[in-house]
Amino acid sequence: MFQYTIGFIGTGNMGSALVRAACKGIDPQQVVVTNHTPAKAQALAKEVGCQVVLTNEEVARQSKFIMLGVKPHILPEVLRQIAPVVKECMDQGEEKVLVSMAAGVTMESMYQHLGLSQRVPMLRIMPNTPAAIGKGMTLVHPECCKPELVDEFETIMAQSGRFDRIGENLADAAGAASGCVPAFAYLFMEGLADGAVMAGVPRQKAMTYVAQAVLGAASLVLQSGQHPGALKDAVCSPGGSTIVGVSKLEEGGLRSACIQAVAGSAEKNKKLGK
Ligand SMILES: NC(=O)c1ccc[n+]([C@@H]2O[C@H](COP(=O)([O-])OP(=O)(O)OC[C@H]3O[C@@H](n4cnc5c(N)ncnc54)[C@H](OP(=O)(O)O)[C@@H]3O)[C@@H](O)[C@H]2O)c1
Repeated sequence: MFQYTIGFIGTGNMGSALVRAACKGIDPQQVVVTNHTPAKAQALAKEVGCQVVLTNEEVARQSKFIMLGVKPHILPEVLRQIAPVVKECMDQGEEKVLVSMAAGVTMESMYQHLGLSQRVPMLRIMPNTPAAIGKGMTLVHPECCKPELVDEFETIMAQSGRFDRIGENLADAAGAASGCVPAFAYLFMEGLADGAVMAGVPRQKAMTYVAQAVLGAASLVLQSGQHPGALKDAVCSPGGSTIVGVSKLEEGGLRSACIQAVAGSAEKNKKLGK
């Protein structure tokens, strides 16, 4: 019988963000982690109070939900490594769910790498790093998992933020919008803060003002349901200073660059699993 509710293989940037969320949602003693460099998993475990083991097989044997937090090119090797353990446990009647967060890797190709005759329940997710503080957006592709197990997974990870269930056919495109956008937002905010510094605002204050403005604007979009264009219009007084800034952003091709960024990331997602 499994000892832990959820186990993580790979505690890098994304894996550790989800470990933090899991440890806020359930008893950290129900969470186990392992990592290629054990010291990384050990430091995280010490910080959040979860358990740590030394091998991927141990995580697979002892956890109900097995979170695969390695890079896409490492995933096939890890799947082959844990397959015998998963089979043995399932043959003994244990319920296991494999959860992959790897960009671009389809569930069909994961089944092939596992190489098992039985179909292990599987979830493919696309989270983002704000999950570490409960502000994440996680897309869940639920096709290969019973609805009650999807519900259970979302309950365990509830402290990571929002979830949306969406077909795997949209994984590469939607994954770019959730997984990659934080990086784009950081770049945007860094530029805005640089502008404020150029205009004379001290760096630390500039970062706070910009971050809070972006946070407030995003919250308003989500809560009001209004189109961002309408909310932008409400800030731009005729002949005022904001519309001058808007015109500068358009001169720099901001919206076109944003479109290309998300579309380009979606294209790259398609290639990552191949
Ligand atoms: N970063 C994001 O914002 C984001 C968003 C959505 C999805 N993802 C997905 O999340 C996955 C991880 O990305 P990441 O950004 O977190 O990468 P990362 O920071 O490089 O983390 C990967 C972790 O896997 C560990 N690892 C490597 N080989 C391993 C093995 N054989 N067994 C156990 N652990 C192993 C690495 O340990 P060492 O450092 O010791 O080698 C590292 O801690 C990727 O599949 C990515 O597509 C990431």
